[in-house]
Parts: sequence; C-alpha cells; structure tokens
Amino acid sequence: MSDQVTHRGLTVWFTGLSSAGKTTISQSLHDTLQARGYKVEWLDGDVVRQRLSKDLGFSKKDRDENIRRIGALAGQLTESGAIVLVSAISPYRAVRDEVRRHIGAFLEVWVHAPLAVCEQRDIKGIYRRARAGEIHNVTGLDDPYEHPLAPDLECRTDRETLEESAAKVLDAIERWLAR
Ligand code: ADX
Repeated sequence: MSDQVTHRGLTVWFTGLSSAGKTTISQSLHDTLQARGYKVEWLDGDVVRQRLSKDLGFSKKDRDENIRRIGALAGQLTESGAIVLVSAISPYRAVRDEVRRHIGAFLEVWVHAPLAVCEQRDIKGIYRRARAGEIHNVTGLDDPYEHPLAPDLECRTDRETLEESAAKVLDAIERWLAR
C-alpha cells in the first residue's frame, strides 16, 4: 500500500454490452489506481443491483432509474475527491448524458466488442438464458444499446488485450488529473 496522493475527483464511466469487459477493465484499474495511492471507488452494476437498486428490473424506466442512482452516488464521491469507476451497461444515451452533465468531471469509456463476441464469452450466461426464452429485455438481443456518439475513449476488447485497454484508460485518467 503506497501513500495516498492528493488529486481532484473524477468519474470514469464504462458503458457497453454484457460481457464486453467493463467489470474486468474496472477491476484491473481499481487495483492499479489503489496501488498508486489514489483514492478510488468502484460502482459495479451487478453489485449495485444487489443493494441500492434491488427493487429495479430491466425496463427502460428501471434502467434509467438505476443509472440516475449510480450517477448521484458517483457525483457525491467525485465531489469528495475520489476517482470513481462505474461499470454498468447503461444502454440509454440520454440518461448517460444527463449524468455526465450533472457530474462534470467525467470520462465516458465505450467498452466495445461485437455482440457475437460478447455472446461467445457470455460470462454471466444471460445470452444463453435469453436464447432459451428464460429472460427478456437483454441488451443487444431484444433490448436496445445506444452506443456513445463521442466517447472520451473506446476500448475494442475483441482487438486489444486487457493490459492495453487498462493502460489506455489509466493514461487518460492521469492526463485528465494533470490538466
Ligand atoms: S443497466 O442497464 O441498468 O445499466 P446493469 O449494468 O446495472 O444494467 O446490470 C446488468 C446486470 O444485470 C448484468 O450483468 C446481468 O447480470 C443482469 N441482467 C442484465 N439484463 C438482464 C435481463 N434482461 N434480465 C435479467 N438479468 C439481466
């Protein structure tokens, strides 16, 4: 554990399909930032949905509410000076943009791999369950994903390694903090 460094707050928001790699990149960055002495927080969609958003499902209304809750928390943590990593599908552009305006200190990262690649990985089995008719409203299958039009960064996880993606985001964070 290194000494804490003083820095401004920033939210780094990872959006993308299930199994695109949001959690994996966030986990890696979380560990690296912590080892470098940054004050870092991580809000992961799956974890948030077990607690803060336990009452919500996967309709547009509920997903937007989920993102607003995560955004409110990320905003508070950012104000307190943390680097906040958010990994959530966050499929709808308008609410992502709303959260971005609210927080201000914000980097949007599109974690991007083709649906076929995500479906091949299917880390949580949600595509398989959707194909079997067990669940509905799965983003990319029978629910929309509105990709960012001008992300600060794009990680093409089918073409770059985890190390490359994480290094790229780390570099963007450090450049932002040095501004
Ligand atoms: S978001 O759309 O509101 O941003 P979030 O990232 O919090 O989604 O939650 C995604 C997680 O919920 C996925 O990792 C998966 O485990 C689960 N999930 C996503 N879509 C569905 C669905 N249609 N039905 C059931 N579980 C889902």
